[in-house]
Amino acid sequence: MCGIVGYIGEKSVTPILINGLKKLEYRGYDSAGVAIYTKNELEVVKCKGRLSALEDKVKDLHEDSRMGIGHTRWATHGEPNDVNSHPHLSHSGKIAVVHNGIIENYMKLKEFLQSKGFVFRSETDTEVIAHLVEYYYNSRNDLLQAVMDAVDELEGSYALGVICRDCEDTFVAARKDSPLIVGLGKNENFIASDIPAILEHTRDIYILEDKEVAVLKKDSVKVYDSLGAEAKKDVFHVSWDVESAEKGGYEHFMMKEMMEEPKVLRDTIYPRLDDGKIALDNIKITQENIKKIEKIYIVACGTAYHAGVVAKYAIEKLARIPVEVDVASEFRYRDPLVSERNLVIIISQSGETLDTLAALREAKRRGARILSIVNVVGSSIARESNDLLYTWAGPEIAVASTKAYNTQLAALYLVALDLAFKKGEIDLSQLEASIKMLREIPEKLDRVLSDKEAIQKFASKHYNAKSIFFIGRGLDYALSMEGSLKLKEISYIHSEAYAGGELKHGTIALIEKGTLVVCPMTQDFLLEKMVSNIKEVKARGAVVMAITQERNAAEVEKVADMVIRIPDVDSLIAPIVAVTPMQLFAYYMAVEKGCDVDKPRNLAKSVTVE
Ligand code: AGP
Repeated sequence: MCGIVGYIGEKSVTPILINGLKKLEYRGYDSAGVAIYTKNELEVVKCKGRLSALEDKVKDLHEDSRMGIGHTRWATHGEPNDVNSHPHLSHSGKIAVVHNGIIENYMKLKEFLQSKGFVFRSETDTEVIAHLVEYYYNSRNDLLQAVMDAVDELEGSYALGVICRDCEDTFVAARKDSPLIVGLGKNENFIASDIPAILEHTRDIYILEDKEVAVLKKDSVKVYDSLGAEAKKDVFHVSWDVESAEKGGYEHFMMKEMMEEPKVLRDTIYPRLDDGKIALDNIKITQENIKKIEKIYIVACGTAYHAGVVAKYAIEKLARIPVEVDVASEFRYRDPLVSERNLVIIISQSGETLDTLAALREAKRRGARILSIVNVVGSSIARESNDLLYTWAGPEIAVASTKAYNTQLAALYLVALDLAFKKGEIDLSQLEASIKMLREIPEKLDRVLSDKEAIQKFASKHYNAKSIFFIGRGLDYALSMEGSLKLKEISYIHSEAYAGGELKHGTIALIEKGTLVVCPMTQDFLLEKMVSNIKEVKARGAVVMAITQERNAAEVEKVADMVIRIPDVDSLIAPIVAVTPMQLFAYYMAVEKGCDVDKPRNLAKSVTVE
C-alpha cells in the first residue's frame, strides 16, 4: 500500500526521499511525489506512474533543501493521476501533507472547509488534512498544535508527515491505525511507513503508537500522546541488515525469498526446541488456561488465512480442540460468538493488515485471549496480543508471500504440539517424535529447492494456460488454496482451488481437453481417493501435475502427467514442504508470461485499508 518517507537533517533531502521511496516500491503504488522545504517555500513534485518518472522530474528541485516528505500512493479515493498524488498542499500552499490510510469523515470535513473558503484541487480524502492543518495553524501559529487539533477531527486511519513553509527546522508526524516509525540519526531524523526505507541511515527507531504525534528537528525528536503529554519512548534496534532487504543477486525478491525458506525455518523452529520439548517465547498459556478453551478461532487474510486452514487440521488432530477459521474482513462484522472461553489465533506477516487488526480488537473486546503469529517485530498486531510467536522470516519484500507462509505453518505446528502436550493429548515420546520431524524440515526443503528446474521446464510448456484448477483432500485442500492464490496474484491466470471430492458437484463441467489440474497429494490415507479424482479429470482431457512424497511417487506416476517428488515427510507436516513447489510453479509461470513478479498489478504488500 502507500509508502511514506520524511527527512530533516544536514544532507540534501531529495535523494534521501527518492532512495527511501525506492525501498518501499514493493508495497505497491501507482503514483509518487515529494515536497521539500526551501527558503520559506514548499516545492512539490508529483506524478502518476513509477518512481523513475518522478526521478526525472525532481532533477530541477533545489539541492540545498534539508527537510522534506515523500510518498508512494496506492489509489483509494480518486484515480491514480498527477493531481491526486501526494503530497497535497493546503489552500495557501503553507502546509504539505503525505498520508497513508483512509479518512472516513472526509466529506463532512470537506464541506466545512469549503464553507470557510478552502478550495480543493483533488478527489482525495487526504487533501482535507492539509487544509484542516492550515485552518488550525492560521489561528494558532503552532504546527504541532495545529496537527493535534486536526487529527482530533479525523475518523479513520492515518499515518502522516506534515511540513510547513513557516517552519524551517521542524516537521510533524502522527499515526492512528496505519504504521509509522521515526528513525533516529545523528544530526538527522526520519519518518517512514516501513523500516527498509531508512535502514541505510539508521537502525534505531521509535515505533509510534496510535494517536501519538512526533515533532522532529534535526537534533531531537519528541513524541506526545493524544492529550499532549510527552510520551516516554523506548528505542527499538533493528537487528536485520540492509542486505536482507535487497535482492542479493537474484532476479526477483520472490525467488530470493523462496531460496531463504530452509534458513528461516531453522530460525523459526530451532530456538523453540529445548531439550526434546517445546519452549514458546512470549506464549504464557498454562495448562489451566488450555482446559478452559472451548473453541479456537483462527483469523487472518489471504495467505495467512490459508496457513490458518492448515492449522485447523493440525490443532484439531493433535490437541482435539475444535477450531473455526475466519477471513478477518468477515469475522469482524459477523457478530462472532467469541468470549473469554475462546482462544483467538491471529496470523499476519506484516502485523498491520487493517481487517486482521480490527478482528483482533473485536475478539479482545469480547474477552477472548489473543495469540498472534506475526513476522514484523513491533507491529501493531504483535503489540496488541496477549501471547505472541514471531516467525523469524526476516523482511519479506515480494508482494506474494512465500517464506512467511512456510514459517507461519512451522509456528502453528509448534503451537498445536504445545497445546496438545499441555492438554495431555500426546505424551512425551509423541512430542519428541514430532520435534524430530520438524527439525528435519529445513534440510528437506533444501532438496526441493535444488530440484526447481523441473518445475521451470513444466511451466515453460504451460504458461499460456487460461485457467488452472488446484485440487486436494484434507491438508492438501488447504494447500491447494494457497497454490491457487499464488498463481493468480502474480501470473494473472484464472485459477480455482477445490476439494478433490467436491469437483464433481459442479466444477468438473469446466474441465476440458488440455485443462491443467495441479494436485498436491501428501496425505497417505487419502492417496487412493485422490487417484480416483485424477482419473475423473483425466477422463475429461485434463493434464495433471501432482506433488507427492518419494514413497508415493511411483503410484502417482501411473495416473499423472507430471509428478513433482518431495522428500518423504509425515503427512501432517507435509504442507510446509509441499507448498514450495507450488510457489515455484506460480513464479515460473509468471516469469514466462513476462509479469512483474515482485509487484503484481493492483496489489499491495501490506493492506492497511478496508
Ligand atoms: C500473499 O501472497 C498476499 N499478497 C496476501 O494475501 C497477504 O497474505 C494478506 O494480505 C495478508 O497479509 P498479512 O499476512 O501481512 O496480514
